[in-house]
Amino acid sequence: MSWTLTATDGAALRNAVKALCGITIPPEKDYLLVSRLEAVAATAGLRTPLELARALGDATRRDLRREAVAAITTHETSFFRDGHPWEALRQALPPVLAAARQAGRRPRIWSAACSTGQEPYTLAMVVAELGRAQPNQDPPEMVATDVCERTVATAAEGAFSDLEINRGLSPALRDRWFSRRADGRWQAIPALRGGITFKRHNLLDTPVILGRFDLVVLRNVLIYFDRAARMRIVNSIRGTLQPGGMLLIGSSESLSGEPTDLIPRSHGSTVLYVAPPKAT
Ligand SMILES: C[S@@+](CC[C@H](N)C(=O)[O-])C[C@H]1O[C@@H](n2cnc3c(N)ncnc32)[C@H](O)[C@@H]1O
Repeated sequence: MSWTLTATDGAALRNAVKALCGITIPPEKDYLLVSRLEAVAATAGLRTPLELARALGDATRRDLRREAVAAITTHETSFFRDGHPWEALRQALPPVLAAARQAGRRPRIWSAACSTGQEPYTLAMVVAELGRAQPNQDPPEMVATDVCERTVATAAEGAFSDLEINRGLSPALRDRWFSRRADGRWQAIPALRGGITFKRHNLLDTPVILGRFDLVVLRNVLIYFDRAARMRIVNSIRGTLQPGGMLLIGSSESLSGEPTDLIPRSHGSTVLYVAPPKAT
């Protein structure tokens, strides 16, 4: 039987979700708490919304917390999502990578809410294409993270169904970077998969351990947070950017009006946010 949430139940579950992964569910979307979390509670033998909310606050209940995060997060993604941002990166990235190398550093790139991997593999393909012009240089180091352990594991495996592979990937790129497995899935070849380190990371936690980056891609995730959490995330990501490094957010997202020193630069219909260069 489906839960009917009281105001107390809704508030307790919304707080529990926010504490778990920062996501803000507005009260008018309480139905999401029911549709996504009731089955998680039932599997764990928890009968009421308040029992679930209490259990989610218990850090020792790792399995329950992992399943709740997987259920509450939205993982919609595709290869070359929205098209134009990847064209913008093809133009804007080479000088940023060159500046890193000139400073004696290997360039670093972070896909910061990577879902099931289509975004970091897209980035890896773009970077590999750019690298073909300079085959003697070390490719950038790539890190891909997500708060959801299950999607990070899927991303790290790098195997996609026909449906997933055909969303955004041309047959030419598919055949260059993926091989058909016996089970019919398309497996990212080691040259693509091997350059990416996959990790679980909550954007509300400090990213210091991940190091600094020349490009951070943070797409279609800020929409799930309230303003305070959004600013906390943008500030901490700002702190990871090298001088002149770039932040790419989702096509329907914007930092305009937000207190940040990142400089918006338009490339066609894509805006890249650039960290000010080091003062000389
Ligand atoms: C809609 S998908 C976007 C995936 C990809 N960036 C894209 O644009 O195609 C949002 C992703 O953000 C992740 N996410 C949600 N809250 C997060 C958090 N607090 N920290 C890190 N990732 C989070 C979800 O697990 C999900 O995989």
